[in-house]
Amino acid sequence: MRIAVLSETDKAETRVAATPETVKKYKALGADVAVQAGAGTAAGIPDAEFEAAGASIAKTAQDALKDADIVLKVRRPAEAELKGVKPGAAVIAIMDPYGQDAALKVLADAKVAAFSMELMPRITRAQVMDVLSSQANLAGYRAVIDATAEYGRAMPMMMTAAGTVPAARVFVMGAGVAGLQAIATARRLGAVVTATDVRPAAKEQVESLGAKFIAVEDEEFKQAETAGGYAKEMSAEYKEKQAALVASHIAKQDIVITTALIPGRPAPKLVSRAMVESMKPGSVLVDLAVERGGNVELAEAGKVVDHNGVKIVGHLNVPGRLAATASSLYAKNLYAFVETLVDKASKTLAVKWDDELVKATCLTRDGAIVHPAFQPAA
Ligand code: NAI
Repeated sequence: MRIAVLSETDKAETRVAATPETVKKYKALGADVAVQAGAGTAAGIPDAEFEAAGASIAKTAQDALKDADIVLKVRRPAEAELKGVKPGAAVIAIMDPYGQDAALKVLADAKVAAFSMELMPRITRAQVMDVLSSQANLAGYRAVIDATAEYGRAMPMMMTAAGTVPAARVFVMGAGVAGLQAIATARRLGAVVTATDVRPAAKEQVESLGAKFIAVEDEEFKQAETAGGYAKEMSAEYKEKQAALVASHIAKQDIVITTALIPGRPAPKLVSRAMVESMKPGSVLVDLAVERGGNVELAEAGKVVDHNGVKIVGHLNVPGRLAATASSLYAKNLYAFVETLVDKASKTLAVKWDDELVKATCLTRDGAIVHPAFQPAA
């Protein structure tokens, strides 16, 4: 059994799909591991460390892929990256499959079994494989660090001989994995934190972190959580009530961090231009949803926008801004999943096609798109 770890081709991608630690574990499973040269450089892992862990270093992606049964990446491979891949190989990555019909066809045509890690069901057995959580947690932390770096004032209250500095007021919109970590981080830095969400379960979690919960708690709010634990798209009426509540609150904030997402849909617009303009110069907004269309009206992906002195931070790939930590957690998520795809006695790839984790994540197989949620329109 051979496992290939490819370099990332997207310029914004700094993470890598394996670490020396997981290479050792794959070796213990009986696999040979080939890492493409330079794959770990941006995450601070030189080739020599992969080699020391037992991997071979392949000069090119093609060399790494040759005869590989399992291909590991951070992002979905493009057509050129799959050249020479063995039909039937398992290709595992964060596939970002929504609205990507052409890219999914490329995977199907390559006859690989493509697995999308972000579709992993949120059940107890799969918690260790949950890439959305492992990466969102880091993004939430980093959002606060990025906000403080842009903010020209201190976060905690300070009583000094020269006078008292007030604590920064931080408002976190969306209290899922990223939002809760943002709350915890901002609290640790001494900010006064408030947060909002549309799911009732978020209220207790926000309060348990010492932040104040602010939301329109009507009948629709009570029904806003899906069985899978995600938010639903809210009605126009709800959005109006939410906007009215948020508008008066935002004007008094120093830092706003938005994290609101709805799986498979564009991010909800939560902060309008008028709300941005109501904030004091020197205030900072960080939009973690910017790659999904953004929660903040003036946010631009990959930029820090200055709007009348209010900074709107829209960094791409925020987990990748902590490349070493993000890679180590992502690599462990991948290992935990790969372990379930391998027959330990024969040391071969042996996918159990009726396993619920496989069914939930497998996009393509034997030349076809097999996932029910991504069937091409007839
Ligand atoms: P997400 O990344 O899909 O969305 C982020 C947050 O935005 C969510 O809390 C969502 O409710 C909120 N949101 C969506 N629309 C909004 C709006 N219009 N206004 C305000 N907020 C809005 O969600 P994430 O972080 O993946 O977490 C979703 C849930 O799954 C949470 O309850 C989390 O605790 C739970 N979870 C469960 C796991 C498990 O059981 N294994 C693992 C990880 C998370």
